[in-house]
Amino acid sequence: MEMQEMGSKLTSKDIYDPENLSLNDAVIQFNGGCTGEIVSSHGLIFTNHHCGYSAIQSHSTFEHNYIKDGFWAKSYKEELPNPGMYVTFVRKIQEVTDKVLKGVQDNMDENLKKSIIQKNINYLIKTLPKKKWQEIQIKSFYDGNKFYAFTVENYKDIRLVGAPPSSIGKFGADTDNWMWPRHSGDFSIFRIYADKNNHPAEYSPDNVPYHADKYFRISIKGIKAGDFFLIYGFPGRTQEYLPSFAVEQKVNIINPARIELREKVLNVMDQFMKNNDTIKLEYTAKYARIANYWKKWIGESQGINKTKAVERKKAFEKEFIKKVQEQNLDPSYRIIFNEFQNLYNQIKNPELARNYFVETFYLNNDFLKRSLMIYQLEKLYETEGKDEFKKNREKFLSRIQSTFSNYNPQVDQEIFKTLLKLYLEKMPAKYLDEESKNKNVEELAKQFYASSILNNKKALTKLINKNPKKFIKSIENDNGYAFLKKFIQTYYNKISPDYYSLRDKINKLQKKYMSGIIKTSSRMPLPDANSTLRISYGIIKGYEPRDAVYYFPISHLRGVLEKYIPGDYEFDVPAKLIQLYEKKDFKPYSTSGEMPVNFLGSAHTTGGNSGSPAINKEGDLIGINFDRVWEGTMSDLYYDKKISRNIMVDIRYILFIIDKFANNQRLINELDIVH
Ligand code: ARG
Ligand code: GLU
Repeated sequence: MEMQEMGSKLTSKDIYDPENLSLNDAVIQFNGGCTGEIVSSHGLIFTNHHCGYSAIQSHSTFEHNYIKDGFWAKSYKEELPNPGMYVTFVRKIQEVTDKVLKGVQDNMDENLKKSIIQKNINYLIKTLPKKKWQEIQIKSFYDGNKFYAFTVENYKDIRLVGAPPSSIGKFGADTDNWMWPRHSGDFSIFRIYADKNNHPAEYSPDNVPYHADKYFRISIKGIKAGDFFLIYGFPGRTQEYLPSFAVEQKVNIINPARIELREKVLNVMDQFMKNNDTIKLEYTAKYARIANYWKKWIGESQGINKTKAVERKKAFEKEFIKKVQEQNLDPSYRIIFNEFQNLYNQIKNPELARNYFVETFYLNNDFLKRSLMIYQLEKLYETEGKDEFKKNREKFLSRIQSTFSNYNPQVDQEIFKTLLKLYLEKMPAKYLDEESKNKNVEELAKQFYASSILNNKKALTKLINKNPKKFIKSIENDNGYAFLKKFIQTYYNKISPDYYSLRDKINKLQKKYMSGIIKTSSRMPLPDANSTLRISYGIIKGYEPRDAVYYFPISHLRGVLEKYIPGDYEFDVPAKLIQLYEKKDFKPYSTSGEMPVNFLGSAHTTGGNSGSPAINKEGDLIGINFDRVWEGTMSDLYYDKKISRNIMVDIRYILFIIDKFANNQRLINELDIVH
């Protein structure tokens, strides 16, 4: 195996073994999105600060601001429960392609195919052997060419144990996000609680710390450029096998549209946040969420251009056709790229329209979000009746109410105007009526924010709690809702059907293309990420972001002090950390007089890999993955080993913070540290 040639001493059974304890028993998916690792026999978890952020925030009050000051439980008793939070272990993985595709024929109607596949999946979920406390998940690989079943365990009592202050955990915030050099202590600590049999259970004060037979040893021997490492986690989504047209469309049309839109929203927020500390506090998390992908898309488009990814894909496609001919494969493979081109041309407008809709009504504005949720509630009543309405009312209500927390109507109104103007200007003509186009957005915004029920939490709550008929009647009479409803209807009645009918065709073609790639490759290509457990490995390594500039792969506490801006919301440094730095009080974690903070490697990672353990050749924990470098973010579409790098926090910095900064020796004593 290539890994061994790179210096790894790990065998595949060390990494995954369904019959015995192996590293997979110490890696968890954290709350559905991130990754985490078990680091003690008492179910202690390390993950990122940004993965624990909302939990940390939910326990914060004005007096106890754990986001600002950090949080450190001094005993089990002080560990804080987080309703709704869960972590997932993967115990067993098996291929079930034949079972999922049973009864499916290639030339079948697509909807029939889908329904047979779904039936087979439901059957497998019910019938595959599992323990009472386990669940079965079926996931598609290679664009539907293969299927695997995962036997998983979801633990639901997860408590917050520790978090550094934001000035450590989120040091550099949005300015440094996706960037190198980086200096953030992006970690937080949780613990799994289980019932008396060590099985998953809902929160109960009677639950006990989960007993882990397998957990990571932690190595403080240190790392250096050239070392092998491995990332084990739950990467969300990559699309390495898209045809060149799709990549071209994404970077030249879709990304620029989304970047422009978000940039405008961020500018509005920024104007308010700059001048008002309360608003800054309320909008920091929203700003960070919107800015995260805004910045990523910019990097992605630049990276695709810089690496000439589209040209390289075109060359790959030419080669593909040649091999198809040489191997005498089905002649329909030869016209696959014409078909792709045709379909991607057709989907351009629906795809753009869908992005404008989703960004406007779903992701960036609270007032518009409410209009969409109200619409969905109304539809639910119309299509499913009053019982379903009543059954789902609470869920909708809590989602709608949450849009009123950290909410400033004035800021929201400015964003509303910005978004709506852009919407009317940029929405492809087919999806916009003449009348709406000529509306005076300024006027409307003023009216709606003054008098629409969508801007009134109390009245809206009361209305949703009324009987459904009354709810519909009053909401239909609301000027703001009535106006926005037209756009939402256009989305559901026109944009979405156009989009999904083309998407289905593209998916079908993509599946075929993927099967062709498999047939024409000398060895099995790596499957795209799909939120399932997998490894990625690499070498600790710097890179050359541009001509004559070289980035070294390890950053140090010295660099934190270099970036220090007293009082700044991104670059402030806690006084205690400065003291520790000045005393050079780093032992035993570092004996060189320097405290390492972050390091770079060449592993191929993506969103969802946040919190993943970085493991050395012996299988010990040396860091936690948390980001990628900006120049390499196109790796979701096209990985380039020259400039794609993942960023990890050095485990020694984490231990140093727990031990010397937080004085929490109870946690240090719980860990298995190899010197
Ligand atoms: N870029 C990292 C990721 O994609 C970190 C995001 C959290 N930080 C932030 N400033 N939004 O998740
Ligand atoms: N920060 C990302 C996450 O939360 C990891 C960075 C990336 O996209 O690689 O998963």
